[in-house]
Amino acid sequence: MSEAQATTVATDIVPAGILDDPGFCRYSTGRIAVFEGGPGRPWSEPSLEPYGALAMDPATLGLHYGQVVFEGLKAFRSADGSVALFRAADHGRRFELSAERLAMAGVPVDHFVRACSLLVSADHHWVPSGFGQSLYIRPLLFGSEADLGLKPPRSLRCVLLAYPADPCFGKDFRPLSVKVATDAVRAVRGGTGEAKCAGNYAASLLTRTQAQAAGYDEVLWLDGIERRWVEELSTMNLFFVWNDGSTEATGHSLRITTPPCTGTVVRGLTRDALLTLAGDLGLNAVEEPTSVDGMRDGLESGRLVEVFACGTAGAVVAVGRLGIGDKDFTVGDGHEGVTTARLRDALLAVQHGRTPDKHGWLLHVEGTEPAEGSHGDEGRGI
Ligand SMILES: Cc1ncc(COP(=O)(O)O)c(C=O)c1O
Repeated sequence: MSEAQATTVATDIVPAGILDDPGFCRYSTGRIAVFEGGPGRPWSEPSLEPYGALAMDPATLGLHYGQVVFEGLKAFRSADGSVALFRAADHGRRFELSAERLAMAGVPVDHFVRACSLLVSADHHWVPSGFGQSLYIRPLLFGSEADLGLKPPRSLRCVLLAYPADPCFGKDFRPLSVKVATDAVRAVRGGTGEAKCAGNYAASLLTRTQAQAAGYDEVLWLDGIERRWVEELSTMNLFFVWNDGSTEATGHSLRITTPPCTGTVVRGLTRDALLTLAGDLGLNAVEEPTSVDGMRDGLESGRLVEVFACGTAGAVVAVGRLGIGDKDFTVGDGHEGVTTARLRDALLAVQHGRTPDKHGWLLHVEGTEPAEGSHGDEGRGI
């Protein structure tokens, strides 16, 4: 998210220049989608409203006890002008699970998808066309009743915001420098680490701010019990590319690994897509635990040749420098590696309809259907 508050441009005509250089969440489309519900009663139909302040009672439950969950998903433009949401139903499923972890009624997936589609359809002219650019959608759900008793919310409000966006770490995909957290932990087994709840992000900020003051972009979190196993960054999952040397056993000299999701890591949909796309490309990618010692040994021996982070907001970004304890390690030559670039290109190619959507990840948005015969035809319509 940009440091400055987003500019709201309440117009259907996108002011010149914005889509060429949108930044990340710098400009709202000027429109939001809203709906309400609660346990045991139907959700209201999503409606579109002008972007503006939300009126809230000072005793709003979610403000006091943190019943707040969110999602982040993107709509991409294809060369034929059509617009498609990427993995909308999967984001909806995760949104529902995040809510349920906080004892909130989850929004049914089809309702979530309908609300996202309604907003993107209305704002389709805000979707930039550059490779890697998108319309970023931020669905937010919070306990909305006015009551200071600690309890699961009986009323919930869902708001969806939309922003034209470049990748959050920039469109040049400059490699990140990342510091391993040694004192603080982000999540523990049995906690809320897997949920996209606001409190997880608030809890990560002190350490992240300290790392940024020391010149790093991000924090790498270790498991909360042994303080040994690599989990993820504050907003992205992590992958490692190992050069095992011999191709005899597997036919591959490179092995790509990502830490398993055991309840303390957000189950990234980009991570999942990359595991699938790596398979499609004939690469050997698996879920496998990596210890901080294993990571350090790999960097010292040169066996760990690439590290990259991935997530909806940032796509796929190399990690060029890793701070472990009081020592900094350069990953490879510090620049983006070929496997990182190859996987990002494969992901963006599907997202922009340049290659067939053979896993059914795209949902074409009403009013922007692809022209007949284009690759995007294989996506599901709404
Ligand atoms: C903590 C955390 N990890 C990983 C991810 C990546 O998930 P996704 O690829 O679904 O955006 C996110 C982003 O939502 C996140 O907040």
